[in-house]
Amino acid sequence: MMDAGCQHRSGDPGRGEGAAVRHAASEHTPSSSGYDAELRRHNAVLRRACGVQFHDHVLDIGCGTGQTTRQAARTAQAGSALGVDISAPAIERARELARAEGLGNVTCEHANAQAHRFPHERFDLAISRFGTMFFDDPCAAFANIRRALRPAGRLVMMVWQGHERNEWDVTIRRSLGAAEEPVTIPSGGPDPFSLADPPTVTQILEAAGFAGVAFTDVHEKVYYGPDVAAALDWVRGFACTSDLLKRLDPAAAARATGRLHERAWIVTARRH
Ligand SMILES: C[S@@+](CC[C@H](N)C(=O)[O-])C[C@H]1O[C@@H](n2cnc3c(N)ncnc32)[C@H](O)[C@@H]1O
Repeated sequence: MMDAGCQHRSGDPGRGEGAAVRHAASEHTPSSSGYDAELRRHNAVLRRACGVQFHDHVLDIGCGTGQTTRQAARTAQAGSALGVDISAPAIERARELARAEGLGNVTCEHANAQAHRFPHERFDLAISRFGTMFFDDPCAAFANIRRALRPAGRLVMMVWQGHERNEWDVTIRRSLGAAEEPVTIPSGGPDPFSLADPPTVTQILEAAGFAGVAFTDVHEKVYYGPDVAAALDWVRGFACTSDLLKRLDPAAAARATGRLHERAWIVTARRH
């Protein structure tokens, strides 16, 4: 995932197939449990904001292993949910989990949401849980998503606010002794904070054909594990922390915080 702040896991390739974040495009089979657990509070807020209806056809962008896709499908019993992700392992896992639950109205496709030819005006709702910050060309991507929405279609996505507003990023960096170092996103690499600035996002979405762009401040905690050891293990996987962690002695590393506050936006818009 993005890792937020770092949510790009160490070892993940850059863009393309592996532009994923955290679990989704890591070198391992994606685990649904870690990221879903981390975001359980955010997920509850996003779910309410999405307001999926019984007949809705839902597009889940950057669905990862598909927790939000399955959630949407359970409510949209007379509709459907399509999850797309650029990570093939994540999509494979999303399919397995949907099958295991016996959800007949879920489809998962390995696709780049920026350019994929979605059926025109097919979906009532496009949703995303931290899956829209990694487009090479956000305007083109959101225009593509907009074309897939019906005239009254809505977009509801959760994106990170700025790194400085996210205690997980600030605290991890501080605990690793890197608070004074500038936050650097590798050039051309995935930037989990790319949609943090409301005026910029509004401009992008309006240029892509959305209207009524609104931001809801989400202030929830992330969950990194039941104890410091588990939290460290999880946090160690963030690309942005792994390098810093290598410089630490074990005692300093053990001070990394397990539960951190987060700031995210829920961005909503309707098709113009
Ligand atoms: C932080 S993860 C979130 C995954 C999922 N939404 C969740 O909450 O579990 C971001 C996801 O976006 C996917 N992604 C990045 N760029 C993409 C693109 N252009 N098209 C489709 N998926 C993309 C990544 O592979 C990754 O699975």
